[in-house]
Formats: sequence, C-alpha cells, structure tokens
Amino acid sequence: MPQLSFTWHYKTRDIVKNHPLEDALVELKGLIGSEFNLAQMSTTAGDWALDFTGKTVRLKQAGATQTAPVSLAHDREKVRPIPAAGRVWMRELGIADKDGKVLPTAQDKFRQINRYVEILGPMLKAIPASRLGKVVDMGAGKGYLTFAVADYLAATLKSEARVVGVEMRPDLVALCNAIAEKSGLTQLSFEQGTIDAFDSTGASVLIALHACDTATDDAIAKGISAGAELIVVAPCCHKQIRREIEAAAASSPLDYLMKHGIFVERQAEMVTDGIRALILEYFGYSTKVFEFISDLHTPKNVLIVGTRTNRARDPAILDKIAAAKAMFGIRRHYLEGATGL
Ligand SMILES: C[S@@+](CC[C@H](N)C(=O)[O-])C[C@H]1O[C@@H](n2cnc3c(N)ncnc32)[C@H](O)[C@@H]1O
Repeated sequence: MPQLSFTWHYKTRDIVKNHPLEDALVELKGLIGSEFNLAQMSTTAGDWALDFTGKTVRLKQAGATQTAPVSLAHDREKVRPIPAAGRVWMRELGIADKDGKVLPTAQDKFRQINRYVEILGPMLKAIPASRLGKVVDMGAGKGYLTFAVADYLAATLKSEARVVGVEMRPDLVALCNAIAEKSGLTQLSFEQGTIDAFDSTGASVLIALHACDTATDDAIAKGISAGAELIVVAPCCHKQIRREIEAAAASSPLDYLMKHGIFVERQAEMVTDGIRALILEYFGYSTKVFEFISDLHTPKNVLIVGTRTNRARDPAILDKIAAAKAMFGIRRHYLEGATGL
C-alpha cells in the first residue's frame, strides 16, 4: 500500500513516520497552517507553495523542478553521510573492500560510524567556523570514529579544523597516522599518551567514546579546562562509582535494589553519568543525555553532550551534587577531583 513518509528533523536525530495516504492527508491538514506556515509540494507537473505567513493565505504555482518520477522501489540505497566508496581509510581499517563496498563483517561498524556522524554532524555544523579550530578525540582506539569526524569536517563542512586522536597504545597510534597519511587527511593526526597528561589547550570540541571508567572523567575535565564549545562522551564502564555504591548498599534504603547485581550496574551507570552531567552544568554547559545507537549493537550506548553557554557557575548545582552523593553513599565522584571541585 502506498504511504507518505514524514521525517521530523531534531537537533540530534531524525524520526521517520510512514502513514497510508488517507491518514497522511489528515495528518497534513492538522499541521499546515498551524504548526507550519509554509507548505511546498513538488510534482512532475508543477511546484506549489501554500503560504500562511501573510494576512491572507496564498497559493503560488511554478514550473516543475522535479521532472523525473520518484522511484517507489523498496530497495533504494540509504544515503549515508560517509559512504564507503572512495574512502581509503575505510579500506585500510577493514570496513570496505578495494571497490568501496562495505564488507559483510563490517556492516555494523559502518552503520555505527554513520549514525555517529548523523548525530555529531549538526552539532559541529552549529559551531561557527572561527570557533572550530581543533577537535580532540580521547581514547581514539583504532580511530574509526576519529577518521569519520575528520572526513566529515573536510569533505562535508569544508572545515580546516584540526582533528587529533589521543591514544595510549603506540601500535594503534602508528597504524592510524600511517592510514591518515595514505588517505590524504592532512588535518588529522594521532598522538600517543594518556588522556590525563594531554595538553588540551585550544580544543574547541572534546570527544571521548568508550574511554574506560574514569578516563571518561579525565576527558570531560580536559574539555572543561580548555573551555571547549562542545563535549561529547559515551561512557564505558562505571567501576569507580559502582564500588562506592556497593560499599554503602547494605545500609541504604535502596538495599532491596542493591542486592541484585544488575540493578547495582544500572544504578552505577545512571548515578555516575547523572553527576557528570551536573558537573558539566556547574561549569556552564547545557547538557543532554540520550541513547545514540540501538542496544542491539552495544549496551554502552549513552551519549552525554555538553554545549558551552555563558551561564555563570551556580552554587545550587553543587548542593544537588552533594545531595546525590549522600543519597547513594558516595564519598567522591572522580570528576570532582579532576575538575578541582
Ligand atoms: C574501547 S576503546 C574505544 C575506541 C574508540 N573511541 C571507539 O569508540 O571506537 C578505548 C580506547 O581508549 C584507550 N584508552 C583507555 N584509557 C585511556 C587513557 N587513560 N589514555 C589514553 N587512551 C586510553 C584504550 O587503549 C582503547 O584503545
């Protein structure tokens, strides 16, 4: 049955809803002229614009800009922000073959890379070019996502921002630098070292995806001290707070939850990341926490995004952090120490 596809664009994701034609008309009637003041329709016969912005409603017609019929085939290839074709780095990292075809074993990785760029792309785009000087990816690993960011900045945003991957394993750093050179990604480089020892001065964007336990805190602290415009982290394990919560569990009113390992795990994750978000807010960042990829791919799928604002530090947030710690029997969150709180 033919359907109309509605794509709702949000800052961090798109939501697609398909409606049978009759339902779609009802949906459109409710939206045009109330939520949307301008409706545009392109057909092979002509283009129309229904305009509610003036005192009277106007319907304008123009010649067709779309002369070829739209394909209704089901197997249309999805347009990806970073296609594999022509990407040397995808071939070298074992995602695509020499013809630019994604390998069957790398489909998940390919989807993950593109999902990540779909989310991060609009955030990078929102930063004025003059303030987008350096992107630092902490705990870059084999560099899949570091390459993706560098590729997106160079090919899509035509940005000259530098991208630096920080990784403690020298073998991975050497591999990634060799691939960056082979790919002609001149603005991308990898540096060997630990996150806490890295000099983040001048970083406008700080990323850390699945850096282990408190390495995520070190990365957030580096972003805050650099005054980064954007801090994006996907935390990995939450051992530091889990140990503290476990130690206090027996005397906690939440003991009926804490006697089950899975709840301790989930509690540690929420409390660790909740306090991370509060600390970011204290330092003037507005925060969002959301799932960025299906948990079918990885359970470590929460993204914390901090966007710098000019807000002054609010001591009430410190009270909130203190109350959260008291409630869960936490003596100290590692990020407090890392940010000098
Ligand atoms: C799980 S991998 C994630 C790699 C990549 N960010 C991704 O999401 O695909 C974590 C990487 O961070 C590195 N790493 C962990 N702690 C680090 C630290 N304190 N300093 C530098 N690198 C670190 C590890 O060596 C590893 O390569």
